Amino acid sequence: MNFKPVQILSIGKSVPETIITNDDLTKILDTSDEWISTRTGIKQRHIASGDENSTTFGVNAAKDALNKSGLNGEEIDLIVVATSNPYNIYPSTGCAIQDAIGAKNAIAFDITVACTGMLYALEIGRHFINSGKYKNVLLVATDTNSKFLDWTDRASCVLFGDGAGAMILTEAKDGVDDIVALNVNADGSKGAFITMNLVGENCPLVEPAVLGQHKIAMVGKEVYKFVVQTMPESIMKCLEDAKMEPKDIDYLVPHQANLRIIEGLQNRLEFTNDQVIVDIDKYGNTSAASVPIALADALETGKIKTPSTAILCAFGAGMAWGSAVVRLREGLK
Ligand SMILES: CC(C)(COP(=O)(O)OP(=O)(O)OC[C@H]1O[C@@H](n2cnc3c(N)ncnc32)[C@H](O)[C@@H]1OP(=O)(O)O)[C@@H](O)C(=O)NCCC(=O)NCCS
Repeated sequence: MNFKPVQILSIGKSVPETIITNDDLTKILDTSDEWISTRTGIKQRHIASGDENSTTFGVNAAKDALNKSGLNGEEIDLIVVATSNPYNIYPSTGCAIQDAIGAKNAIAFDITVACTGMLYALEIGRHFINSGKYKNVLLVATDTNSKFLDWTDRASCVLFGDGAGAMILTEAKDGVDDIVALNVNADGSKGAFITMNLVGENCPLVEPAVLGQHKIAMVGKEVYKFVVQTMPESIMKCLEDAKMEPKDIDYLVPHQANLRIIEGLQNRLEFTNDQVIVDIDKYGNTSAASVPIALADALETGKIKTPSTAILCAFGAGMAWGSAVVRLREGLK
């Protein structure tokens, strides 16, 4: 089998128009802008309203990436959607996006890896290109956390926002692989740190099940401790696999869950503020969409200049986590 390298062709994003500030949350919770912004860095988040849902934002992000890529829908042959709170379990969000963008030649499916979804999608997508099975791959990460938050739990509901990001990969014609290194990891023994149950009822002829709550629950302190240990290890392993050092990397595009975690990574890499992409103040934690939204925004605003190299990293429920060293080609949008 001839190894086919991957080019990152475009990045897209979509967020709800409705913005909820920390001050807005004080109307429904015993909290304050001061508490939220000093502990997390979050000032506001975009929240789905009315009939908007994970499919709405996923479709818009996919269209944004498709427009920037110069491809049309029929040229896409694989769609992988990372979502942990889809509008439907089936039809899959992937199938809904396939239909909405006219990707009639693509196969489509969803994966559930919470906030690390885009890194896992990238792992899946790049191997399908490497093997020669597919040429043009659309990855979408879309989450509408606001629908599944416990809005009475101030320790978790203030942290999250909604939105979607997308990335199109294609076979690199020049032989240069944009995915320089990538590792994804899982540790199911830490599953209780962040949970969201699907509530279902047993057949009426049998004993009823104890029903869980279809809501996000989190043990914030344990997540924090776990992440400050595993995330730097994952990044350093990725750099080692890439045969690179922090000084060879231009940007860090981290999962936007907590500014203190991001600053810890920044110190470890000895990066300047300009090298670290932070938008947690605007969007909060948008789960799987967090890394591609940050990347799309930074390319749009010129915070990231191309050509350059970047570390992408994410962590979340599972626990699952991962990092990638990627090339961002000249003119990438
Ligand atoms: C969630 C997080 C910000 C909480 O910060 P913390 O310093 O651990 O705070 P604690 O949970 O110890 O709570 C401290 C106090 O603040 C209170 N508090 C919690 N949320 C609050 C809020 N929104 N507003 C005001 N007070 C709040 C708590 O009730 C507690 O009060 P007490 O001391 O009287 O009991 C932090 O643990 C964190 O970011 N963890 C990582 C979470 C994460 O990354 N999740 C996403 C994974 S994808």
